[in-house]
Amino acid sequence: MNINHVNEELFSFLDHSPNAFYAVRNMCGILEQAGMTRLNEGAPWKLEAGKGYYVTRNDSAVIAFRIPRADYTGFQMMASHCDSPVFKIKANAEIAADKQYVKLNVEKYGGMLCAPWLDRPLSVAGRVIVRTQEGIETRLVNVDRDLMIIPNLAIHMNRQVNDGYKFNAQVDMLPLFCEKGEETDAFRGLIASEAGVSAEDIIDADLFLYNRMPAVTLGLNNEFIASGRLDDLQCAFASLKGFIAATPKDSVAVHCVFDNEEVGSGTKQGAAGTFLSDTLHRINRAMGRTEDEYLMSIASSFLVSADNAHAVHPNHTEKTDPTNRPYLNKGIVIKYSANQKYTTDAVSGAIMREICRKAGVPFQTFVNRSDMLGGSTLGNISQSQVALNTVDIGLAQLAMHSPYETAGAKDTAYLIEAAKVLFSSSIEGTGNGNYKLRF
Ligand code: CO
Repeated sequence: MNINHVNEELFSFLDHSPNAFYAVRNMCGILEQAGMTRLNEGAPWKLEAGKGYYVTRNDSAVIAFRIPRADYTGFQMMASHCDSPVFKIKANAEIAADKQYVKLNVEKYGGMLCAPWLDRPLSVAGRVIVRTQEGIETRLVNVDRDLMIIPNLAIHMNRQVNDGYKFNAQVDMLPLFCEKGEETDAFRGLIASEAGVSAEDIIDADLFLYNRMPAVTLGLNNEFIASGRLDDLQCAFASLKGFIAATPKDSVAVHCVFDNEEVGSGTKQGAAGTFLSDTLHRINRAMGRTEDEYLMSIASSFLVSADNAHAVHPNHTEKTDPTNRPYLNKGIVIKYSANQKYTTDAVSGAIMREICRKAGVPFQTFVNRSDMLGGSTLGNISQSQVALNTVDIGLAQLAMHSPYETAGAKDTAYLIEAAKVLFSSSIEGTGNGNYKLRF
């Protein structure tokens, strides 16, 4: 696999996916091009063995699947997320400052590093809901130019800033939008014109800031990549590419990308919702199988929860566990946690290691320092809907939840290879802790 080609495609995906709505739209385009058929949750499903399909929920989560044959063994799945910590524009966003400036009122979505949002070109993207003759319609909007900035306070006015600063989201993080002119509702007007409608026809909106800096390669030998939203679009992209390149044989391949992981996943389009379980049940019924056959297939299924992992930090090597030390470009990170924040156990860890071996890609392990609390992810959350053998993995990265993160140039290709093996394979549970792995 050509690393440069993989990263070019990844960069194009990242640059054109400023938030979950665009990431899902772009993934749907790639699935469509690969010959997959779009399904609608609100319509009956007629499925055929040998074909591939995809379905979205809320336009911000997508599940794609390929059915090899009607009497498939189980589901071979990879789940990732397409949302990232960001600032959401509030309703009635405009705030005048000193009768000279217009800034926008925003609130935090998820837990981000605040400082790197300052002093860089930003813009806004999301969806607007527009009034139509029959009802309402969703339109995606991306103001594709350098539009706003959140200016820092000069060092002269904040002498202690380098000794640590507590960012107040209601005070420090409001982006400067324009000079105050005669115009009222200038922001609404801009969004309306970008959406190609009149301001009065916009009934509501979900709009988010994004960092304008495109994805780049860096390092002496181009060994690093940097971009916004690597967590978790890097995994979502690798899962998608592996899904399309795979040859499902005995199990249904399922590529799932959920929204709202950064805020706990508890939405209809999040991993705690019914999207995955509803989809698997519908596949089961459409293929003429009974509920008993559904449960049998789940016992012979495997879920890889793919969400980026922390690499050892070059300036803070002490922050990582003494014996489990992931590095950039050293392969897929298998995450462990005794309290099962990560779902990996000896069985699912072993299966993942065998998948990596079969794919010929390196893997490494992550465990939090025992005196440090880690983050959470979607693997354990989705268990309440579909309970099955699950492993938590990710690609190593630095500066997680910054609007500009750093990762390894080789790792995306490694995950694509592993995903290809996963989606082409079958795992048959024979009871008593034994599994037949068919690659
Ligand atoms: Co993540």
